Amino acid sequence: MFETLHKAPADTIFALMAEYAADTNPAKIDLGVGVYKDEAGKTPIMSAVKKAEQRIAESATTKTYVGVAGNKAFSAAMIGLALGDAVDASRVRGIQAPGGTGALWVLLKLLQRAKPGGTVWISDPSWPNHKPMVEGVGLNAKFYPYFDASTGAVDFDAMMSVIDGLGANDIVLLHGCCHNPTGANLSPDQWDQVAASLSASGAFPLIDLAYQGFGDGLEEDTYGARAIVKAVPEALIATSCSKNFGLYRERVGCSIAVARDAAQADIVMSQMMNIARAAYSQPPDHGAEIVRIVLEDAELRAEWQAELEHMRTRMIANREALAEAIRQRSNRHDFDFVAEHRGMFSLLGLDKKDVDALKGSHSIYMLDDSRINIAGLGPREIETLAEALTQTV
Ligand code: LMR
Repeated sequence: MFETLHKAPADTIFALMAEYAADTNPAKIDLGVGVYKDEAGKTPIMSAVKKAEQRIAESATTKTYVGVAGNKAFSAAMIGLALGDAVDASRVRGIQAPGGTGALWVLLKLLQRAKPGGTVWISDPSWPNHKPMVEGVGLNAKFYPYFDASTGAVDFDAMMSVIDGLGANDIVLLHGCCHNPTGANLSPDQWDQVAASLSASGAFPLIDLAYQGFGDGLEEDTYGARAIVKAVPEALIATSCSKNFGLYRERVGCSIAVARDAAQADIVMSQMMNIARAAYSQPPDHGAEIVRIVLEDAELRAEWQAELEHMRTRMIANREALAEAIRQRSNRHDFDFVAEHRGMFSLLGLDKKDVDALKGSHSIYMLDDSRINIAGLGPREIETLAEALTQTV
């Protein structure tokens, strides 16, 4: 049977992570996979998360099944975090899913059931897993322009020239905040224009909100998602706790659906549960229970928010320090856009030859498209990267 198979391509992000791990250079720098690192280059467990985990260890009495929808109080808290009171609760349903990727996958399967063979429009560029996921469930992937490499900013006119031309048969995949890989994001005014366009055309919004709290703030990062659900009758949102709770390996996410009314919302919920049951039966509980405890407890929630805010502002400080370090060395402003970007990533706009040279000569690891993880930089790494960039590019 296996003779019919060919070797599948390795995932670019996790292959790079393995390549970095195998590099014996003690001065190597990891700017690849999207994992937050602190000033010391570590990814510690957040203190509020640790406390919630201790509570679970002390008070849990069973490991019996929770149910196909997972931890319902967790999903309610995640809906609140993403949407606030932007839309009437009777129209919203959420199902706990295994990570942000799992949450997105459930929603894509749902879309394939609602519109078999439909087309999902993805930003060009996008997270490398978006296209395989879309095609993997049997939907078609097409791209809308997004990034202007010459300015490092969103090419909004080009983006809207495609979005405005879509219709009720199209699905638009939007990064709710902290665009991955570019770091270039829509302004509130531009989000309003996207929402108005979708409302006029009937094109269906699918929002990937994997980095809430890493951009302009926990509330600010929901501007786009909230503007859209206020403007259109139906929308889907995939959220993740990998980054903002640092729960990467626990796989914690939530698939959120906004429907026209409560009756349709119930149907959508039953479909999401049906999809989950046939795929993985039910999601892992541990990480979701941690998030539920943190979000429901005022003290732990405040502690978590303060920690998250520290992470967010450290990434902004890194951006400014990197742009400044390059300016000092080159007396040029070519990389100033890095300070304007938000979130965990910036696309530097280097060609593959330069990316390979940075890896080969300096053990600096970034994705082939020159996406860097801003959180992977400490003071030493900022100086080394600035020096290597001015030498190489
Ligand atoms: C990334 O883009 O590096 C992260 O979202 C990790 C992943 O799953 O790809």
